Amino acid sequence: MKQSAKIQYAVFPVAGRGTRFLPATKASPKEMLPIVDKPLIQYAAEEALSAGVTKLVFVTGSTKRAIADHFDSDYELEAELEQQGKAELLAAVRGIVPSWASCIFIRQSAPLGLGHAVLCAKPIVENQPFFVHLADDLIDSAVPCLKQMAQVFADRESSVLGVETVPMEETYKYGIVATEAREGRISRVTKIVEKPKPVNAPSNLAVVGRYILTGTIFEKLERTGRGAGGEIQLTDAIADLLADEAVYAYEFEGKRYDCGSKLGYLQATVEYALKHETLGKPFADYLQGLLAQAK
Ligand code: G1P
Repeated sequence: MKQSAKIQYAVFPVAGRGTRFLPATKASPKEMLPIVDKPLIQYAAEEALSAGVTKLVFVTGSTKRAIADHFDSDYELEAELEQQGKAELLAAVRGIVPSWASCIFIRQSAPLGLGHAVLCAKPIVENQPFFVHLADDLIDSAVPCLKQMAQVFADRESSVLGVETVPMEETYKYGIVATEAREGRISRVTKIVEKPKPVNAPSNLAVVGRYILTGTIFEKLERTGRGAGGEIQLTDAIADLLADEAVYAYEFEGKRYDCGSKLGYLQATVEYALKHETLGKPFADYLQGLLAQAK
């Protein structure tokens, strides 16, 4: 089946409870944790919009209402900022989603895993190719990661997984792929396993939170039983997809921060703050002062 080369949909599975950040995430979504001054989910939406999508599909759960509010207009706040002449802040608040893009919210009724969350988007996405973006994985790159992957999709018209090499002892945290020989950054996936122990891992090439999937994945997900952790795993459906269609691994250009872990989150905060237009210099001075004190 020929896929339309233009990808219109990005699916953001955001129903997870973020237990690693409790109590911060007791009543507010982990995707609303800010890196400097923007929540993780806004970085996610911006990346998808830059890759050309027009429909942002959020698969949400309880305690996630703040995400819908964040992407909605807030007339009261806008009027206040306008009255106070705070033009820059007003633009920042108004520009979160451009007028040509729309946000669609679906509730994931039960915590049945990433595969189930993606399947919840089927009534919207239907048989189109689509992005899946996990906001925990923040990627800093000159060309946004999904945009890099969209180019691979335009050339190959097949599913594409964003991958990076990880230390062998960390394979148990990721979907791990085996591939054919690389052509530059691209290789064809021959096998994929969810969170294998290092001894069972087919490689140390890990899938991070970026996917382009063809509509066929929904047929596979409908038949995928519960896998690792008793959840319906996207990885297992991709393993089934391999029997029918080519799937490519793409080693993206950029630096990934695992913002689902406290250490990764802090690293991202420090590095994004150091790159920030106005905060960068005073923050660097502050860190240098701290280092000098520590000596
Ligand atoms: C999920 C996927 C896993 C993938 C990872 C990337 O795991 O199940 O295959 O490698 O995201 O971050 P999670 O981190 O939600 O446990």
